[in-house]
Amino acid sequence: MGPVLGIETSCDETAAAVLAADGTVLAEAVLSQAGHAAFGGVVPEIAARAHLAHLPAMVADVLAQAGVAPAALGAVAASSGPGLIGGLIVGSSFAKGMALAHGLPFVAVNHLEAHALTPRLPALGGLAFPYLLLLVSGGHCQCVSVEGVGRHRRLGTTIDDAVGEAFDKVGKVLGLGWPGGPAVEKLAKQGNATRFALPRPLKGRPGCDFSFSGLKTAVAQLVATYPAGPLPVADAADIAASFQHAVAETLADRAGHAMAMFAATHGPRTLVVAGGVAANATLRAVLTAAAAKAGFAFVAPPLRLCTDNAVMVAWAAIERLRAGFVDRLDHAPRPRWPLDSSDMQTTAAP
Ligand code: KG4
Ligand code: ZN
Repeated sequence: MGPVLGIETSCDETAAAVLAADGTVLAEAVLSQAGHAAFGGVVPEIAARAHLAHLPAMVADVLAQAGVAPAALGAVAASSGPGLIGGLIVGSSFAKGMALAHGLPFVAVNHLEAHALTPRLPALGGLAFPYLLLLVSGGHCQCVSVEGVGRHRRLGTTIDDAVGEAFDKVGKVLGLGWPGGPAVEKLAKQGNATRFALPRPLKGRPGCDFSFSGLKTAVAQLVATYPAGPLPVADAADIAASFQHAVAETLADRAGHAMAMFAATHGPRTLVVAGGVAANATLRAVLTAAAAKAGFAFVAPPLRLCTDNAVMVAWAAIERLRAGFVDRLDHAPRPRWPLDSSDMQTTAAP
């Protein structure tokens, strides 16, 4: 099989990558869109237009860098859900157009499966199935038993907000701008994590679902007890640290339950953490300790492969093609596409 082109446009990262069939990265590019910060969050229409503006040149660039002519590709793949529908339409239509023009197979990649299969990249050691994935980003917060290509069992998910959303909201109420995660982590370093008693949502409850909306609201209510205007820096730091501590304890508890659920079927294996929130050093440390306690190995892919990128999309496509899955050109991108959907293991002859 020739090299595979992957395209990622499900949120606010425009990305393209070319991987050789053995998973070697030949070229990759990621553009984190500017233009959303002023609105305090990703504006779907701005994102879709920016994908459209940047994707054609980016794809030409990665193909040139890889030294691969379009017709020499083995397949073209795009994230086709879940995500913001405008961006998904841009990326998947572009990929389908290339597939049609050059007579190539098209692979509609589930963005969550792309995150889930990342630790199987040869460069990351090619982790064997099964393993447990904790996906923590601005859009997702779930525990998944990754059992094979197209074979995933969702053990738990958030019943309201994703953990990254909670960081972003707390960043906003503390006046730190958007996205909030990195700024909250930085401020928390100077703070006292035990000063404010904040809720640990669902801690100790059976299962490994998550909930962050109550914690987010508790922080907003705490900030509202201060006079209007900027908070004293020391108080803001204590709030950031106390919030991060509450998240850490919650994630450790939920991941502990997830590992017990996973181990009941497969025994202790590996806990993989992915998504932008995995950048947080405190959370990583807490999860490392939780994994050790449960007898699991702990893996966190390098950050550029943890956050949205196209290497993971091309890699997931390679895995799907090897397993015999290919998609039709009328495959419809979809904003919601749970990992354990029945169509994750189907294929349709073009
Ligand atoms: O995976 P990602 O880049 O994009 C998607 O959401 O798909 O994740 C972005 C999220 C944002 O909510 C951001 O605030 C959060 O990850 N984040 C962090 C940190 N860095 C990014 N959260 C906590 N601590 C960080 N250091
Ligand atoms: Zn993602």
